[in-house]
Formats: sequence, structure tokens, C-alpha cells
Amino acid sequence: MKRPKIAIVGAGGNVGAAVAQWSAQKELGDLVLIDLKAGPAEGRALDLTQCGPWEGFNNTSFKATDKSEALADSDVVVMTAGVPRKPGQSREELININAGIVKAICGDVKKYAPNSILIVVSNPLDAMVFVAKQVTGFPRERVIGSAGVLDSARFRTYLALAAGVSVEDVSAIVLGAHTDKDMVPILSTATIGGVPVAKLLSAEKLNEVVENTKKGGATLTGLIGTSAWLAPGAGTSLMVESIVRNQGRLLPCSVELKGEFGVKDAFVGVPVKLTSKGAESVHEFELSESEKKAFAASVAANTELMNIARGFLG
Ligand code: 2OP
Repeated sequence: MKRPKIAIVGAGGNVGAAVAQWSAQKELGDLVLIDLKAGPAEGRALDLTQCGPWEGFNNTSFKATDKSEALADSDVVVMTAGVPRKPGQSREELININAGIVKAICGDVKKYAPNSILIVVSNPLDAMVFVAKQVTGFPRERVIGSAGVLDSARFRTYLALAAGVSVEDVSAIVLGAHTDKDMVPILSTATIGGVPVAKLLSAEKLNEVVENTKKGGATLTGLIGTSAWLAPGAGTSLMVESIVRNQGRLLPCSVELKGEFGVKDAFVGVPVKLTSKGAESVHEFELSESEKKAFAASVAANTELMNIARGFLG
């Protein structure tokens, strides 16, 4: 029986390497680490292979290359290529460099892995999902952005810290654009141990949690000097797992909206059921009035970025 083939493009970088690491730990399949620079990809693959004796990666094989042909027959392609943000820089500022990179690689994905499910991680995320969708021409089920999982993990973490409880009992999601300004942490449905968060935390505390969540990536970039990779990699490998193991997890992912939440022709984070078909379905629910407003602003910001990205598609 064929094991899933998971290609990670940009795997010489931190986020790609973290996706590989978490995916190896879960033994999700055969990993192909692709990078423009063969050396770093090979180094990451070798480093991971040498974790095998202690971590027991019995079922995982690694391959590293700079050749796009290695994408052939991939079940899942994870796109992490592009430059990361620097301290003080927004994700949006990366568009001029990353749009061209993502466009070129998506051309290869279309050519060599036309049946794959493509997970985009490169920033500015939602606009890069749009670029990937345009270039590959894949149906929306097979072009999925990874950011809502990360932002939701940060939201859950800050809620748990504020309440002084285990993060395991915190259920909360972040929708909308993956930008500091416009992401939408959803308080109306957030619970801790089944109890609505508003019953456990003051409005002031909740506001603090929301602000910390929104600037979660910027805080880490400021501290580390480049953008984070462990949580972005963990969230992305969770998405890969739900796809290759057909788990049907309901996770916030960026996909093309076709009328859901009253929006068409935009790409932002919404609850998505992830199965072996990819983004099998989008699940709508009623947002609070203030969340609706924030979600609309998020969509408007995405439309602006998509218009800039269009300039790279010609
Ligand atoms: C972050 O928020 C890399 O965009 C990613 O950390």
C-alpha cells in the first residue's frame, strides 16, 4: 500500500523544516524536502534522519533536492517558500518578493503534481493562497492556506494564560485575514471547559488576550529576529495529518469564499473540514455584530492585497 507522499517546498527554511519535523514525529508519510538551495534542504533531511534512532521514525523516509520534478505524485504539497518577516516588518510588506516566488513554484506544482492538495504557508498568507489558486487552477478544495490554525493556537494559549488553566480545555478560533491588523479572534464562541470565556474573564482581560493574539507573530519576530517556526510548523502538520489520515477535523483555514459568510471572491480564514479531499466543506455560523464588522474589514484588506498580487500574475 502506498504511503502518502508529502512534498515541502522551501524546506531549507525554518518553517519548512518544522513542518517536516512535526510530520516526521507523527509518521505522516514519505517526506520530500525541496529547496532552491539543495544544501540546506539536504542538511535538514539529514538532521531529521538522525533523529530516527531516538524518535523511532520507522515509517518515514526523507529525500532532499533542489529539483521541482521531485513534486511528482505528491499527495500533499506544503508551500513554505519565500522570505520571512523581519522585526518591525508586516507580512503584507513581503508581497513584492513572495508573490513571484509563490507564482513560480505553483507553476511547478501544476505541472508535476496536478492532483495534489496544496497547503500554502508563505506570507502574506491569504494573498498567496489567491496566487496559488490562480496559477494552479486547482479547485478550491485543493488550495488551502495555513494560518488560522496558528492564530487559533496563539489565541487559545493567551486565553489559557489569562485564566490560569490548561490550554487543553480552551476551545477558540481565529478567522479572517492572517494580518496583525485584521485577524478576527472569535470571542463569541470561545469557551474554557465548556464555559463561555466572558463568564470567566473580564472584558479588559479579554481585550488584552485579543490584542496579544493579533500581534502574536510580530512579538515573536521581535524576540527571535525572524518569524516564528515551531507553532507555524505544528499547525501546518496538523492540517496535513487531517488530510492524509482523512480525519475530517474542523480547522480555521484560508480558502476561496464562494458566498459563505456573505462573501465571494476573497480568501480569508473560515472553519473548514479537512479530509482526504482537502477542504471538503466550509462551515458557517452566526458571528456577533462586532465580529461581522471585523470580518468585513478583514475581507476588504484581503481584496486590497489580492489586487496587488494580480500585478504579479500577468
Ligand atoms: C507567524 O505569524 C510565520 O506568519 C507566521 O508567525
